[in-house]
Amino acid sequence: MIRLKRIEKTFRNGGVDTPVLKGIDFSLDEGEFVALMGTSGTGKSTLMNILGCLDRATAGQYEFDGRDVVALDDVELSRLRNEKIGFVFQQFHLLPRSSALTNVMLPLVYASQYPADARERAEQLLAMVGLKDRMGYLPGQLSGGQQQRVAIARALINRPRLILADEPTGNLDRQSALDILDLFSDLHRQGHAVVIVTHDQEVAARARRVLHMVDGRFEREEVRP
Ligand SMILES: Nc1ncnc2c1ncn2[C@@H]1O[C@H](COP(=O)(O)OP(=O)(O)OP(=O)(O)O)[C@@H](O)[C@H]1O
Ligand SMILES: [Mg+2]
Repeated sequence: MIRLKRIEKTFRNGGVDTPVLKGIDFSLDEGEFVALMGTSGTGKSTLMNILGCLDRATAGQYEFDGRDVVALDDVELSRLRNEKIGFVFQQFHLLPRSSALTNVMLPLVYASQYPADARERAEQLLAMVGLKDRMGYLPGQLSGGQQQRVAIARALINRPRLILADEPTGNLDRQSALDILDLFSDLHRQGHAVVIVTHDQEVAARARRVLHMVDGRFEREEVRP
């Protein structure tokens, strides 16, 4: 599904260059579950943003379903992101004045065609993440774990084949983190490809592949049978 070759990312600010990604090779098959680990500042979020088409690499190749992502213009890039990728952030990024239900439906507003069953889909997803009785609540009226579940439902509304989660349990207590993890395992079983950034061995233990990143490169990869 995804193939990265020699991906580099250098940030340029006021004449200062910060090289962050220094040649990343990465392939992801349909339906895989991969964990990405590494110390703070090593480039995990930078890589996730490139994978998620929220940012562009400075050099290298990125193919998604055989399409050359580097060659896409900004409109095509956001369409790809919207149709195929669901992104879950560490900070939940929910709209504070909109209900859980509206937050989940939001990505559909940007879809090329607004589906007739938008509301029904959002309700189903909120029920799936255990928030059937909280649909009308504002983010501020929900716990951290509940807000993250809203964010996951929102990431799924376009039925993406790829789910990217950047430390989705980083801000949660143990039990909420385990609940969220179970959700990602379920999604994986349903056939979604999942890439999850984590500092937690227990989280990584759920993945078949664990990639260890050091200083902008993949240092090693563990693969479980
Ligand atoms: N816009 C930017 N301009 C300059 N440098 C940046 C920018 N964004 C990130 N960096 C640098 O890139 C490096 C990697 O950042 P990144 O957020 O990818 O790390 P990370 O592995 O996700 O760390 P953490 O585990 O703390 O989230 C950091 O040293 C950071 O200072
Ligand atoms: Mg990060």
